[in-house]
Amino acid sequence: MIKGTLFVSLCLISQVYGDSVNQSQKEELVQKAADARHQAYAPYSKFKVGAAVLDDKGVITPGANMENASYGLTLCAERVAIFSALANGSKYIKAIAVIVPGGGTPCGACRQVLNEFNPELIVLYGNEEGRLVKESNLKELLPDAFGPHNLL
Ligand code: THU
Repeated sequence: MIKGTLFVSLCLISQVYGDSVNQSQKEELVQKAADARHQAYAPYSKFKVGAAVLDDKGVITPGANMENASYGLTLCAERVAIFSALANGSKYIKAIAVIVPGGGTPCGACRQVLNEFNPELIVLYGNEEGRLVKESNLKELLPDAFGPHNLL
């Protein structure tokens, strides 16, 4: 019952806040993701990815990929950013910006993790100079997602 109410509340919050990210916030988010890319720890792949998430209070939290000598323990930039934001008190994530060299998109594992916290998430793509080049959303990247609603 409590879980169901929580889920309905999250859906309502999502509808209210759905697309309320303005152009200058988008540009700032992409720039922060590009800056974060420089903090990547990627000695094995040499493939540096940057991300930044925006919450409903306007707080931006950066992330970069963190690799490990035990390769499978590597964390992608997107997950570093969203977990860091939540650990720092963000409650509702509205958008994520990613800088993937060569114009890649978030991996499947990250899409699933992002879906957990906002299936309506806005996804912004930037180039290595920090310019916004494309906009999408998680529903497009992960249709028919399995999520909390399947368990609550
Ligand atoms: N990587 C990310 O950080 N995000 C993605 O969306 C794709 C892949 C990282 C993981 C690893 O450190 C490197 O890129 C090569 O796969």
